[in-house]
Amino acid sequence: MSLRIHNLEEYELAYANSIANPEEFWADIANNFQWEKPWSKVLDWNFTEPKVEWFLDAKLNITVNCLDRHIENNGHQTALIWEPNDPKENTIKFTYKDLLKEVSKMANVLKDLGVKKGDRVCLYMPMVPELSFAVLACARIGAIHSVVFAGFSANSISDRINDCQAGYVITTDALSRGAKQIPVKAVVDEALEMVTCVKKVLVVNRLNWPVHMLEGRDIWYHDIKGIVSEICEPEIMDAQDPLFILYTSGSTGKPKGVVHACGGYMVYAGYTFANVFQYEPNDVFWCTADIGWVTGHTYILYGPLMNASTSLMFEGIPTYPDPGRFWSIIDKHAVNIFYTAPTAIRSLMAAGIDHVLAYGLYSLKTLGSVGEPINVEAWHWYHTHVGKGKCPVIDTWWQTETGGVMISALAGISPLIPAHAGFPLPGIQTVLLNSDGIEIAENDVEGYLAIKFPWPGMLRTTWGDHERCRINYFDTYKGYYFTGDGAKRNSDGQYRILGRVDDVINVSGHRFGTAEIENAINLNKQVIESAVVGYPHDIKGQGIYAFVIPAKMPVDPNVLKDEIIETIVAQIGRIAKPDKIQIVSGLPKTRSGKIMRRILRKIAEGETENLGDTSTLLDPMVVDEIKNGAIK
Ligand code: WTA
Repeated sequence: MSLRIHNLEEYELAYANSIANPEEFWADIANNFQWEKPWSKVLDWNFTEPKVEWFLDAKLNITVNCLDRHIENNGHQTALIWEPNDPKENTIKFTYKDLLKEVSKMANVLKDLGVKKGDRVCLYMPMVPELSFAVLACARIGAIHSVVFAGFSANSISDRINDCQAGYVITTDALSRGAKQIPVKAVVDEALEMVTCVKKVLVVNRLNWPVHMLEGRDIWYHDIKGIVSEICEPEIMDAQDPLFILYTSGSTGKPKGVVHACGGYMVYAGYTFANVFQYEPNDVFWCTADIGWVTGHTYILYGPLMNASTSLMFEGIPTYPDPGRFWSIIDKHAVNIFYTAPTAIRSLMAAGIDHVLAYGLYSLKTLGSVGEPINVEAWHWYHTHVGKGKCPVIDTWWQTETGGVMISALAGISPLIPAHAGFPLPGIQTVLLNSDGIEIAENDVEGYLAIKFPWPGMLRTTWGDHERCRINYFDTYKGYYFTGDGAKRNSDGQYRILGRVDDVINVSGHRFGTAEIENAINLNKQVIESAVVGYPHDIKGQGIYAFVIPAKMPVDPNVLKDEIIETIVAQIGRIAKPDKIQIVSGLPKTRSGKIMRRILRKIAEGETENLGDTSTLLDPMVVDEIKNGAIK
């Protein structure tokens, strides 16, 4: 059996097989990869502990599957196209041979610094080629990479480094984003003041920005990359060894470190990339995500490289130097498959059609969407104006925890309904549950989206706290992995994702826990209490609305609001800035002191009628005050 599904009949057959004989099904898929030693058993699992192990006793190195095995036939093919922020700067292309050399050099540099198998390495970098080298270099030597998106604050970095006790950090001097240049190393320096576990910091020079280098700790990459060998033997990993940790927000407390394992993740990333995008040799694939998020891990690096694809990596933003940048890059590099987020589509829609019409976009054959529900209007705009009506738009639903796409059309194969993710991929046993945790068998229904059987790409644990993993994902509905999303299933069985049903807000495709933002706000000395909710936002999907009780009513509320924003930027990062802050004297609470978020959500949505029964509140009057002061 090959990796690729070619038509609807094959999909149906694969799906049926994957349910009837999951182990045989995944073993067949896994045989498409290069293993140093085969598995003794395909799967061992229970969702109570939970314990999920795929390809037991098998040995591999994922970078052998991404790089070495392509050298013979595809060594001169472009693996990575790097497009800089500034269109006047040169594009850089790396063949598979080049990439193997760069990764091996970086791997040897890391070894020189003392990095060993199992060590955690934190990567805090913009979208420069060295970020790709660094990710793969860690995988090459068996170190566990934990990429932190370069928009997070020093506090967020130090929390993550402390949580996984990373001994090493890789960063850059600074970054360029649109017209702005932003310090990066200085943020790391600040973070490391709150950390004692970091031994070495490797710094890549991007902008010749002046930085402070701490002697004995900080090393320039360019100072040693010339003196290390260009060959690095891959570390042989057990299939269950962690490949990476990626921190993501949940409904409670601080972000948790989602852990993916080498063997299962490899098979799932490779399989989903081949099938969802229906990649053909010589296609140019472009995923616009940042490698700081899971989408970049799986669909800029691991998935495409395992399929010997050409993957484009873009340093900049969609609106620089103008809102035609995405389309100009597509024409410049003859991109065939384009994968982006609804928030980007909506913001480019708002910038006007002329920016799109200026480009031919003839090379495009498939369009993808990820990160949040795509609304029908954005779907049609994308399909009509970007895809010129001839490219399938696939809406791919998945999560950091799932490792790869779970529900999606297969491009050009599956029937499409705008704003519907579609059917689950082979091997994915999706169910809808009612609030009692009972499976809803019929179609044309709505429920909580859960998965009832393991798949190779699923998370294995949350770093350092397995119980947290159990409680977060496996406790709400016993016997299921619970996604935290609500969904509809139409009469054909196609899924439409409705969004989060827990206290997670999805802002421009980035996840934040409401509690996480509230905790940050509450650190401001002038704040007594706060409550954060999401509300529908035209561009971002969801916006952040914060209700804040101050110790003393301020003379000028804007001063306090600015300070609250500063606190959030310092605690979490710029990406978590609230869109609206309302200063209130109290919050709607039940007599037992629980905040009635349902009421706040309605007010944030602009709904002032039908707030439900407010008579049981501790102080019903406060609702009128909040309603009257609501920010439009
Ligand atoms: C949401 C991103 C609707 C969902 C890969 C999920 C989506 C969360 C879609 C995971 C989609 C992702 N349609 N909603 N196609 N894709 N989501 O971990 O709420 O950053 O639970 O992974 O994004 O976000 P994460």
